[in-house]
Amino acid sequence: MANEEYLLTSDEARALLQIDEQTRVEISLDLGLSPTEVSIGAEGLLLPSGLRVPRGQLEEMARKRKRIFSLGPDGPEPVEIAGEHYYKLTPTDGAPTLEIDGIQMHRTSKMEPFEDSRRKVEGTVGAGDSVLDTCGGLGYTAIWSVRLGASRVVSVEVCPEVRELRLVNPWSREFFLAAGQIEPVEADVLEYILSLEQESFDSIIHDPPRFSLAGELYGAGFYAELLRVLRPGGMLFHYTGAPYSRRGVRDFPSEVTRRLKETGFRARREPQKLGVSARK
Ligand SMILES: C[S@@+](CC[C@H](N)C(=O)[O-])C[C@H]1O[C@@H](n2cnc3c(N)ncnc32)[C@H](O)[C@@H]1O
Repeated sequence: MANEEYLLTSDEARALLQIDEQTRVEISLDLGLSPTEVSIGAEGLLLPSGLRVPRGQLEEMARKRKRIFSLGPDGPEPVEIAGEHYYKLTPTDGAPTLEIDGIQMHRTSKMEPFEDSRRKVEGTVGAGDSVLDTCGGLGYTAIWSVRLGASRVVSVEVCPEVRELRLVNPWSREFFLAAGQIEPVEADVLEYILSLEQESFDSIIHDPPRFSLAGELYGAGFYAELLRVLRPGGMLFHYTGAPYSRRGVRDFPSEVTRRLKETGFRARREPQKLGVSARK
């Protein structure tokens, strides 16, 4: 996979295969961000670079579901990394989400991931803020922090595979364009936070994987560190999702709210945002 390659989803490949006559059509080669005119016909898809994607390759892509392919000279390659865990970019109606071992890292039901990320940041990050983005992922919460006025965002991501997918994802471009304001940190935030000065951030976005995958990021010890690095009066947004709610066995956001209060935050649930807002 390489940065700045043309990207096509399996749904888009399927739609192109409906066209038999040689013609020019507008499609997106960057997951819906911008339109590009291409030519399509019996010989396949002709990209603006001159690269041809034969119909057989389009058919191969169309057979898969919810995939993104990078269109390189060696043929289409799925945007995924398989190793000890399986990481992939998954298309949605808006920005792609990140999937780790089949678990989506953003809301995609009734909400598109970029909008989901705006909601996580809005109301917490203020103009001129220095922000700690604990779980950087594809960079959406960092991008929204800058868009909403942050002057500096320290964005921590532990996983090299996720950082590689972030490089390929066109929706993450602003993360790199805002290099003066966004400082990417390649580290485990549980360790990294210990190295931070106390009261060094105006706001914190804490958007961890779900509790069953990263319980330590919901623990009292980590919450105490969040409190320590936040300035007095500073704001935290903690995304929790609503796990266990369908079975009605636990009210998880309330448990997080209680634990944040015990740590010393003033915290309240934000049901619309599936999280908890807290002030130091
Ligand atoms: C829900 S996603 C974050 C989405 C992100 N806020 C965005 O805007 O795309 C959680 C991310 O936290 C990362 N992560 C998990 N444990 C971590 C840790 N201990 N330190 C830093 N990042 C971690 C995962 O690799 C994953 O990319």
